[in-house]
Amino acid sequence: MNDGVCRVQINRPEALNALNTELIRAIADTLETCDRNGEIRCMILTGIDQAFAAGADIHEMQSLSPSDFLHSHFFKDWERIRRIKKPVIAQVSGFVLGGGCELAMICDCIIASETAVFGQPEIRLGVIPGAGGTQRLTRALGKSKAMEMILTGRTITAQEAEATGLISRVVPADQLEEETRSLAKVIAAHAPLAVQLAKQSVLNAAEVGFAEGLLLEQNSFYLLFSTNDQDEGFEAFLEKRKPQFHGN
Ligand code: CAA
Repeated sequence: MNDGVCRVQINRPEALNALNTELIRAIADTLETCDRNGEIRCMILTGIDQAFAAGADIHEMQSLSPSDFLHSHFFKDWERIRRIKKPVIAQVSGFVLGGGCELAMICDCIIASETAVFGQPEIRLGVIPGAGGTQRLTRALGKSKAMEMILTGRTITAQEAEATGLISRVVPADQLEEETRSLAKVIAAHAPLAVQLAKQSVLNAAEVGFAEGLLLEQNSFYLLFSTNDQDEGFEAFLEKRKPQFHGN
């Protein structure tokens, strides 16, 4: 890692990367460590060829009661991932199901191999998505498509996911890693504080009201005019050279 990009791989092949408590905690711990590391400017979260993740772990959840979920604050580590400040790109192939689809949607962009299959199949288990699927899928696809997928458990292909706006891009399987890394490198080369505030402003579009979102965007814009990187970005443009950003 000397380009500001860090790649984190989920690797539990025997269970198609099913996300048990230990695994999701390890993902949150790792992403938070990367978030604090000044040399890392963009993260890639990926899985294995067969699966980004086939869901939350059904074996682990099977015998839990509502009070078990409440007492353990079951989704706390998912929340930690949501609060990561630097951009996280989900690089996905194979099964992206249930909690796996929800985890990908918590990330900031999704780049998929043409082998990827997306869905929220929880209804087939007699439950519903619990890590944000009903909210994020609806915002990504609109009510009708999200409703159909969530009520039927139907999966969609990577091509369909791209056409509907769930993902940024679908690429051939053998180009997935390279394409994702080039995207991450472009982001990592930009001014880190601008990237952080841009990410937060885009997330605000779904998380706060419109007027508040506009105000927060404007204030972030003004705030960036106190940074050295803004001086550098503007000067470099006027001097017709490439900017060197230092994150301050
Ligand atoms: N949890 C735990 N284990 C899982 C799993 C999951 N979500 N998905 C797959 N596995 C395990 C299987 O139990 C199996 O293990 P064993 O070999 O020990 O039996 C192994 O991974 C391989 O799976 P399959 O043999 O089923 O593989 P397949 O290729 O025939 O089918 C699949 C693949 C279609 C993804 C199928 O495994 C499947 O339907 N998985 C469950 C998908 C699902 O329902 N996800 C939602 C979970 S609930 C959730 O995520 C709640 C939430 O919102 C937070």
